[in-house]
Amino acid sequence: MFSHAHPMLAGKHIALGVTGGISVYKMCTVVRLLKKAGAEVRVMMTRAATEFVTPLTFSTLSQNEVVVSLWPQDKHASTDKSVKHIDIGLWADAMLVAPATANTIAHIAHGYAEDALSAAILALRCPLIIAPAMDLDMWEHPATQQNLALLRSRGCFILPPEEGELASGLVGPGRLPEPETIVEYVNDVVAKTPLDLKKKKVLITAGPTHEPIDPVRFIGNRSSGKMGFALANAAALRGAEVTLIAGPVTLGTPQHVKRIDVETAQQMHDAVMAQMKKADIIIMAAAVADYAPVTAAAEKIKKKDAAMSLELRSTPDILRALGEKRTKKQRLIGFALETTNELTHAKEKLTKKKLDMIVLNSTRDKGAAFGHDTNVITLITAGGAVKKLPLMDKFDAAAEILSAIQELQQPRSHKSTN
Ligand code: C5P
Repeated sequence: MFSHAHPMLAGKHIALGVTGGISVYKMCTVVRLLKKAGAEVRVMMTRAATEFVTPLTFSTLSQNEVVVSLWPQDKHASTDKSVKHIDIGLWADAMLVAPATANTIAHIAHGYAEDALSAAILALRCPLIIAPAMDLDMWEHPATQQNLALLRSRGCFILPPEEGELASGLVGPGRLPEPETIVEYVNDVVAKTPLDLKKKKVLITAGPTHEPIDPVRFIGNRSSGKMGFALANAAALRGAEVTLIAGPVTLGTPQHVKRIDVETAQQMHDAVMAQMKKADIIIMAAAVADYAPVTAAAEKIKKKDAAMSLELRSTPDILRALGEKRTKKQRLIGFALETTNELTHAKEKLTKKKLDMIVLNSTRDKGAAFGHDTNVITLITAGGAVKKLPLMDKFDAAAEILSAIQELQQPRSHKSTN
């Protein structure tokens, strides 16, 4: 009988990357818990990890051969012809690297593939979970923190280390969480990345737009693009073919996402219109400028001692144009950022723009909307359902939005062209 403590793991393929830290011993229990939950487990180890626990221990516990080396002549290479390091990337439903040393994190962040484990990670097509464990100073080093930020922006899940006594005798963050916590986290990631969007084409817009005033100045807004990028990442992990049309942002592109960069509302409009026909789901998370200068000066505008004014024209409302052009089968989702009378305004937009659902965020909620890694959203459907969600990570908010879209079974009641 399988344990019911981690219901999402039954029948799942979990690849485990073990790297060289003192906490490798905890991973023996992790393998046992994963097996108890009904998962199939394949372990890959770095050479440093084998200094702490032998591959034999992990192959006995996982009941599968352990892969250490890329080279067939090596005594630790896999002799199992059916599973090479690259195949693990295709075989796995999720991959967990734990404990992840600062060295392995740097390798993954920068795309090195010098051993079997890092090569497998480059060929991965499933969620990657990293559980760092290291000494306090290594954890706090800007290189480690920047590498983790880079991995997070590409869509990796990072299970933060716990605080406590470290092998070095120092006290602080750096301890690998207990096996139960690790397995619980893997279970949660598997739960929020079901492959329910396979073969679905999803079109997402993200970020602000910049409307040029002259060659060096523009009108923009404070959108970071994080919500749209989280949606793109979440949809790709659920198996969708994702096209992300991004305004000027500084974010890395999530894995398996096709990205088209644009600057202005007009360029975003044109890119969206060129892509919309083939999309099954369209989510407009971009904060598109509503006004742009009538003309952009060819030369830098000179400073004068008098007041100046800019003449503005309204930009195309992309979402509204989509509402007119969409088919019954397509799902169309917009965002609304409001400061007052939030619900009323969002509902008006939902109807006016002929959407299936609108995602409301308010600047009044702490930790919500522009720039934050978290959001507080309310989902409002054309059918009249209103669901307010608590403060959560933008990836989790994205997962909620995608699940709500999946539940929108009935074609919308608005008029449609075909
Ligand atoms: O009307 P408002 O701009 O508040 O509506 C927000 C929604 O409309 C967002 O989904 C945004 O991406 C979209 N929008 C658009 N084109 C514009 C302005 C907003 O598609 N010009």
